[in-house]
Amino acid sequence: MEFSKNEIVDILKDDSQNNWLFSLADRVRKEYVGDEVHLRGLIEFSNICRCTCKYCGLRCANKSVKRYRMSPDNIINTAKNACNAGYKTIVLQSGEDSFFSKEVMCNIISEIKKFDTALTLSIGERSFEDYKFFKQSGADRYLIRIETTDRNLYEKMHPSMSFDNRVRCLKDLKTLGYEAGTGCLVGLPEQTVESLAGDILFFKEIDADMIGIGPFISHPQTPLKDSLNGDFTLALKVMALTRIILKNVNIPATTAMETLNPEGRLIALQCGANVIMPNVTSSVYSENYDIYPNKAHLDEDIINSRQIIEGKIKSIGRTISKDYGFKRKLNN
Ligand code: 5AD
Repeated sequence: MEFSKNEIVDILKDDSQNNWLFSLADRVRKEYVGDEVHLRGLIEFSNICRCTCKYCGLRCANKSVKRYRMSPDNIINTAKNACNAGYKTIVLQSGEDSFFSKEVMCNIISEIKKFDTALTLSIGERSFEDYKFFKQSGADRYLIRIETTDRNLYEKMHPSMSFDNRVRCLKDLKTLGYEAGTGCLVGLPEQTVESLAGDILFFKEIDADMIGIGPFISHPQTPLKDSLNGDFTLALKVMALTRIILKNVNIPATTAMETLNPEGRLIALQCGANVIMPNVTSSVYSENYDIYPNKAHLDEDIINSRQIIEGKIKSIGRTISKDYGFKRKLNN
């Protein structure tokens, strides 16, 4: 289905057709990626970050967050436990922490790849060479959200970062043969529906394999502390349109959705999403992974949380995937 930017804007502005939009997204999801839900075990291994993103609680200027860094052995062990609990993908996520040099990361990657798992990295902007070595060590996928394609807003939100470098990262990852994931925040101050439509078209243009979309949630220890939270329904609509337009991509039901709505992830699974990323990090650490407040803490124990999530997924007639969950090929 092809939509022009103007058509996307009209749909985003008009709430009278939301039920039509969500059921269309659900049908497209079923047709292109089926009823299986892929579970990815998320390890938040360091909250140390050199960046100063205005919306993020982990920004280096926030002195009230207790910083931690898991040791490589601890990260590898956590991954092993998650694999033993049935996860077929491990996601390693952190702030932009320079301790995790190319060499340190490559060692962690090759150890984790000894387990029967796909491996995703989400560790920010790095050089082409770093990405190349991570890939050679066995990393399969990489997540780096563009956050917003409105260049002015991007530069306001990310002091001393560059939009062009962000795009360069995504292009490098595609060139190197990663499955590349990106996505955006919905509801940043001054963000327009026109730019959200641009975000969706950008995902298509760079041929993203995975797309994570979540509402902005105001964090009290950031410059955006007085801004309003993003709108749950608008985030859901951006996600639904992304499914309809990009068809066979993998789309997580994000934790930020669950933070704004207690059933947010289940609702998202019925509006186009087909992936959930349960947190498998020990809560000793993850309680300090304070990107935004009230980050849903559902996943205290790896085995228990998996059973709870599996139960919820089955309750809406969906199944749990047993494979690695790479992007499905288009049949045409
Ligand atoms: N609200 C919602 N999502 C946020 N992220 C960072 N800060 C916030 C916030 N305040 C998201 C960013 C980042 C991802 C890891 O978390 O989009 O890419």
